[in-house]
Amino acid sequence: MADIARLIEECSEWITPELESCFTVKQQEDITVKAAMYSLMGGGKRLRPLMMKMTAEMLGCSEDEMADVRYFAATLEMIHTYSLIHDDLPAMDNDDLRRGRPTCHKAFGEGIALLAGDLLLNSAYERLFAKTISNPGYAYASGRMCTLAGIEGMVGGQSIDLASEDKKISMELLTELQEKKTGALIETAIVTPCYLKGNMTEEQAESDKTVRLLRQLAAHLGLAFQIKDDLLDVTSTAEVLGKSVGKDSRDDKSTFVTLLGLEQAKVCLEDETAAAVKVLKELSDMGYNTEDYRILADYMISREN
Ligand code: IPE
Ligand code: IPE
Ligand code: MG
Ligand code: MG
Ligand code: MG
Repeated sequence: MADIARLIEECSEWITPELESCFTVKQQEDITVKAAMYSLMGGGKRLRPLMMKMTAEMLGCSEDEMADVRYFAATLEMIHTYSLIHDDLPAMDNDDLRRGRPTCHKAFGEGIALLAGDLLLNSAYERLFAKTISNPGYAYASGRMCTLAGIEGMVGGQSIDLASEDKKISMELLTELQEKKTGALIETAIVTPCYLKGNMTEEQAESDKTVRLLRQLAAHLGLAFQIKDDLLDVTSTAEVLGKSVGKDSRDDKSTFVTLLGLEQAKVCLEDETAAAVKVLKELSDMGYNTEDYRILADYMISREN
């Protein structure tokens, strides 16, 4: 099995039980919880949990620390899934297919899909709050996840994305859009284990060399990931991708491909991946084993879905 396929499969086995138990059996009788679970458990590459797991392993987390990392990884996957449910709604990207199945609103109706997204976000925050009460050292990690899901991160990027439809925007604004809508949650995935392991405060995080390098790594991988998403929208098929294609040009979206064209967007993808590999070299010079992250960096270019 190719290395990346093995890493993805191992991560799926690691994260699935945590996701399956995020609502009680009794709660799962509710239609909104059913809709949330439909989207949460229905496929998905689990790349953000994989990034959390890889950083935690790179940092040499103990078994107990890994259990907490897994809890935060599932929480982030809930936030990511909520962002996809809302992104697919008719009021946003109006998509019918997600993770190889009808989108949440196609399967459950728009009202329930809206609630399912709200529920996943609220439950994620409930989890962060509960963990921070039992370990106040996790306050910064939790707060940072909330910040990067909000206006300084994913919601902020989605806001620029919608406001930029039918407009030609600058490369600078496009880069900000992509860094926020996708890069922010990827930063959370890549750096959170470092905050958790060190019980870091904001001040400690700001002055820590490993955090600085991991944030740089996340910025490059995040951008590479979204550029590839934009490319696949043009070059792939719904069958392979598990979501509809051609929708960015249909909606006159601002993406690397619509702004720069296919060839130049590919160059940007390669540049961002190369920059990520350079950061990995610095981490490896500090003594970290970055082998799995090298595999992930290659996958940014080669992935087919
Ligand atoms: C899709 O993310 C949305 C973007 C931020 C580009 P993924 O490609 O990670 O989606 P899943 O989780 O595998 O479905
Ligand atoms: C969405 O970007 C990013 C999110 C925050 C959900 P896209 O709209 O390009 O994601 P896809 O292509 O629908 O997965
Ligand atoms: Mg969108
Ligand atoms: Mg979309
Ligand atoms: Mg897309």
